[in-house]
Amino acid sequence: MNQSQRLLLIISGGIAAYKCLELIRRLQDHGVSTRVILTKSGSEFVTPLSISALSGEKVYQDLFDLTDEQEMGHIRLSREADLVLVAPATADILAKMAAGLANDLATTALLATDKPVMVAPAMNPMMWQHPATQANMETLKSRGIAVIGPEAGDMACGEQGSGRLVEPADLVQAVLSRLQQAQTLAGKKVLVTAGPTIEPIDPVRYISNHSSGKQGYAIATALAAAGADVTLVSGPTKLAPPQGVNFVSVQTADEMLSASKAALPVDIAVFAAAVADYKVSNAASQKIKKKDGKTPKLEFEANPDILATIASKKESRPDLVIGFAAETENLLENAQSKLIKKGCDWVLANDVAEETGTFGGDASEVHLVRSDGSESWRHQCKQATAHQLAAAIAEELKGR
Ligand code: C5P
Repeated sequence: MNQSQRLLLIISGGIAAYKCLELIRRLQDHGVSTRVILTKSGSEFVTPLSISALSGEKVYQDLFDLTDEQEMGHIRLSREADLVLVAPATADILAKMAAGLANDLATTALLATDKPVMVAPAMNPMMWQHPATQANMETLKSRGIAVIGPEAGDMACGEQGSGRLVEPADLVQAVLSRLQQAQTLAGKKVLVTAGPTIEPIDPVRYISNHSSGKQGYAIATALAAAGADVTLVSGPTKLAPPQGVNFVSVQTADEMLSASKAALPVDIAVFAAAVADYKVSNAASQKIKKKDGKTPKLEFEANPDILATIASKKESRPDLVIGFAAETENLLENAQSKLIKKGCDWVLANDVAEETGTFGGDASEVHLVRSDGSESWRHQCKQATAHQLAAAIAEELKGR
């Protein structure tokens, strides 16, 4: 890690603010220096004294502190960092960011910065699930802001659910990956598939699956943040298209294949979509009517395998083809055989047994399987997995 890398850490008000002290310390071990803006509510939870003792720097708090403005104006403060992280990010500061408010030093710096911004939300689960917070998150993500967590678990308020700040070790990983990646994939073209496909039964009904698209969208976002020219081909999801990617919306597996072929040639292809294996071959052109005593019979035919089709291309095969394996048993064995059967270079293997909460959830534990072995990544949020994948891809291409 480059010694001169700097993080601007904005600590807003939440009980999890204490975890940021550990974060500052651990980042120092990796040669990253942290400069802190502490919001008024943040200062109710951690003191400027403990922060500056660890960061070795003055802590910035007040927008209208004349000495600060002379020494270090808010514009300079926001520009002199390589990366900005808001942790813990309260519902309040996320709402202010989404609305573009700038009524204190933290929000002014966030509006003025020209650097990548990450947020690590932490709040009560009901506040996190509230449609207002969720709408704000979609707005922020669509502007290219990376979101780390939150995690599910016991809350300081005694409730349970999603809303915990991710652990300092995960924050360190996310910050390091983001800093390392800076533009490491500039000039590379990438195809990412994501989400489910839907296969019509008639004009109003279809067969699909529960894929949320979260992992694929996070990967597209992380690769674009690393400077790649990303085309995201997505089936229907509830997510906003990430900013800065070429977004192609499709419905069926056939459409996903055509759109993926149209995106070629690319250097890297990541197939994160949960493509329906079968389509209805006798789909009706008119809505099927209910008939007494008769049940309709659906017939199926296999869908094209998009990954296998593109991996087996003689011309215009991407240099690096990455597939996913979602398994409920014999994870690594099944992933190895998928690697060979589908002709891909890497497989990201996911345990999707119900108790893991991976499918549709915010976190996962993946194993990167290559022909010569595998490595297991920590249980972490999908955005952190995406950043780790982007870093692994950049490393691989450097070595080729
Ligand atoms: O065979 P299975 O569905 O388990 O393989 C998963 C991998 O293959 C994923 O990367 C998925 O995106 C890809 N796939 C595909 N086209 C299909 C089925 C799966 O690209 N028709």
